[in-house]
Amino acid sequence: MNKIIVSPSILAADFSNFERAIGQIDASGASWVHMDVMDGSFVPNITFGPQLIRSLRQKSTAFFDVHLMIANPGGFISEFAEAGADQITFHYEAQPHCHKYLTEIRALGKKSGIAIVPSTPCSALEETLPFADIVLIMTVNPGFGGQKLIPECLAKVKKLAEMREKSGLNFRISVDGGINEETSKDAVSAGADTLVMGSAFFKSDDQKGLIKRLTH
Ligand code: DX5
Ligand code: ZN
Repeated sequence: MNKIIVSPSILAADFSNFERAIGQIDASGASWVHMDVMDGSFVPNITFGPQLIRSLRQKSTAFFDVHLMIANPGGFISEFAEAGADQITFHYEAQPHCHKYLTEIRALGKKSGIAIVPSTPCSALEETLPFADIVLIMTVNPGFGGQKLIPECLAKVKKLAEMREKSGLNFRISVDGGINEETSKDAVSAGADTLVMGSAFFKSDDQKGLIKRLTH
């Protein structure tokens, strides 16, 4: 069993002060920072790109968990790696070359991740799993923070955990969207070991306590 990791998402932070957001995450005891890159094409929202990651890399030693919600991830992998991402996760639905890009990410010395939206079954990933360090199951439709978790997605987490068990692989299972202290219990019971948390983290008035409760 992998230990539980919380990855606070700066999508829910004050966009005029990401340095402060990174400081808050660091002070909370969380060691990962989730960064949602959106291109206005794969998802109906636009956030930020490699330049922000490059700048924040100068301010932080945290593990940068970069989630690409972009239509052409293959064209940007080396740029995000060079900017300072520690893990690069792209979407299965965005393109047909999962094996190629997961292999490329690992060859750059980074952790490789593949993500699926709520309508994609985890069986679609079967042949891809040996090449992934993490699988991110979206528990909302991607594009915006602050949405409610779609409970049916947790059945996929359970299925994926069974696939992991059967295969003898050890990739992490991440859940992203509508994760808070309550829903994280169900996600962890289903088999998730990585909890992406945007609004619930940044709205909390006890971020340190929150991280402690979720990881112990
Ligand atoms: C949504 C993003 C999430 C987002 C989660 O498309 O992938 O990472 O930050 O935000 P909350 O936790 O507010 O649902
Ligand atoms: Zn995300």
